[in-house]
Amino acid sequence: MKSTMPKSVVIRGTGSYLPEKVVSNDDIAKFLDTSDEWIYARTGIKRRHIAAEGEAASDMALKASLRAIESAGLTPADMDLVIVTTVTPDMLFPSTACILQAKLGIRNNIPCFDLEAACSGFVYGVEVAARMMQSGLYRNALVVSSEKISAMVDWNDRSTCVLFGDGAGAVVLSASDEPNIGILGSVLGADGSDNAMLRLPAGGSLMPPTRQTVEKGLHFLQMDGKEVFKHAVQIMKDKALEVLDLCEVSASEVSLMIPHQANVRIVESVAKRLHIPMEKVFLNMEDCANTSSASIPIALDSAIRSNRISKGSYVLFVAFGAGLTWGATLVKM
Ligand code: UT7
Repeated sequence: MKSTMPKSVVIRGTGSYLPEKVVSNDDIAKFLDTSDEWIYARTGIKRRHIAAEGEAASDMALKASLRAIESAGLTPADMDLVIVTTVTPDMLFPSTACILQAKLGIRNNIPCFDLEAACSGFVYGVEVAARMMQSGLYRNALVVSSEKISAMVDWNDRSTCVLFGDGAGAVVLSASDEPNIGILGSVLGADGSDNAMLRLPAGGSLMPPTRQTVEKGLHFLQMDGKEVFKHAVQIMKDKALEVLDLCEVSASEVSLMIPHQANVRIVESVAKRLHIPMEKVFLNMEDCANTSSASIPIALDSAIRSNRISKGSYVLFVAFGAGLTWGATLVKM
């Protein structure tokens, strides 16, 4: 084998993109029976960014990717691998990753694929990329999570539409010869027996689009919020502890936890159980709402650009989503 195996895989650059249009809770209360008080008290969300008509997951991914590649001091041609995580691909196929590859102008035939693990997609994507990079065959990988959830929710259903937003976040991972840095470890998991708790039932091979599926609203996201909430708290706490144990790092050594931004009450319950004070937890759901797999990389990029992360500190990602899926990753920055 000609390739040299790296000693570690580091986060070399980050970028994010949020669409220009902002919709506040008060804006939604103008056409739905809801209120800013209810939404903010139950979720911690005040507003969300909404993509423009015709602005697809790949367009948002492109903007986040270019920022991440620039912050890494590289060019698109330096990428050896592109993974896009999304539940809202531009279309069923080709993959959004291939569409993004073309938009980035990458012409060197690198592997590009989509990975779908719902809100846990970014954590899955980083782990898959890092493991592929450990072969020594890929020196730089782009992992980008891009979601246009606004296109998949029923804007007449107050129990779901108020929770979500659009956006994209990206990281450039690079192979490094420095040991014990970067992605230290990840734990991933899934339990498909609970797949009906959060899903978008129609539009796939089971229920192709018909007049009936459209009339019944089966192309919109469906969620049993209460059940998802219960599972999220328990699993996010367990997986955070598991990855810390795997890496032999204690919760008190974590400088910043970046959780999936679904609901501030979920995050507070998880942090409390881990004995991590809220000052060490990065939150942005107030401004961005739940952007599914994009939520952690958008938050990571904001944390880095606002100097919340110093070199050598431990950062913990923890996510949970439809599937059910989950994952936690410990990074030494
Ligand atoms: O990305 C991962 C997946 N998503 C999540 O992690 C979401 C997890 N779940 C949650 O965040 C919470 O369960 C929700 C925020 C979705 C709901 O909060 P809740 O405290 O579990 O409320 P609920 O569903 O029990 O609803 C309480 C009441 C209901 O009225 P009744 O039946 O008690 O009269 C709802 O109809 O609140 C009502 N309600 C609303 N009222 C005003 C539901 N949505 C709204 C709304 N505005 N937007």
